[in-house]
Amino acid sequence: MHSFGYRLNTIATVACFLLAILCSLASLSDYFNVPSVNSHIEVLKVNRFRKQLSGNDEVSLTFNISMDLQSAFTWNTKQVFVFVAAEYDTVKNCLNQVTVLIPLSSF
Ligand SMILES: *[C@@H]1O[C@H](CO)[C@@H](O)[C@H](O)[C@H]1NC(C)=O
Repeated sequence: MHSFGYRLNTIATVACFLLAILCSLASLSDYFNVPSVNSHIEVLKVNRFRKQLSGNDEVSLTFNISMDLQSAFTWNTKQVFVFVAAEYDTVKNCLNQVTVLIPLSSF
């Protein structure tokens, strides 16, 4: 009646049920966190601006970026990607977009 297999099955079932409840609570607790990041960015220097043979423009800039990412980091944060998106217009194109991915190790 109370065989080893029966007891093992009961323990495994209770353990899985508790784990499911804990996982649900963990997900729920982070669901209401709305991070608000304050940031400031300015271009300090235009290092290089040239036209490539392919017709594309190549620019090297030095930015001063300061931001407070504290609210983005919770116990449930695995990875944070930070990028700068710039939009500008030229005579030839009314909308140009550039995205720069910033590795967090540079902070
Ligand atoms: C960068 O910006 C911060 C504040 O936003 C300022 O305190 C700092 O002096 C700036 N650094 C440079 C090199 O301009």
